[in-house]
Amino acid sequence: MDAMQPQEVKELIDKAQKAKEQAYCPYSKFRVGAALRTVDGLVYTGCNVENACYNLGVCAERNAMAKAVSEGHSRFQAIAIASDMSDQFISPCGGCRQFMREFGVKWDVYMSRADGTYQKMTVEELLPVSFGPDDLSQEKV
Ligand code: THU
Repeated sequence: MDAMQPQEVKELIDKAQKAKEQAYCPYSKFRVGAALRTVDGLVYTGCNVENACYNLGVCAERNAMAKAVSEGHSRFQAIAIASDMSDQFISPCGGCRQFMREFGVKWDVYMSRADGTYQKMTVEELLPVSFGPDDLSQEKV
């Protein structure tokens, strides 16, 4: 898979920022948006959706991935994540890293700041020595 061009990365981050506007986060007031690009170049977006039963809240990244998979797309090239933080790059939580890993370790995560600057890491870099689908069929005693 070819690397994304800088303009394509910018467009993906723009979409993550736009998705952030739909964030439903009355409890944390921490808005997050994600834009997930499939290997076919389709983009699925998501935002965080919280709940009065706090532990049921869902992250933006997982919502974007669930949308794509439920529409028949599970081969991903990259995901861009956006928040309102000006100084920090938004970093996916451990649960989302594991959820990403389900769909491979060799794809890219663009963690952005509010001004659109970003840091890129692969899923493998974010979750080294991970447990994945293949582990379930390994030799057992
Ligand atoms: N959150 C995300 O949606 N993605 C992240 O990468 C980090 C955290 C959400 C979960 C919760 O709704 C709020 O941000 C505060 O943790």
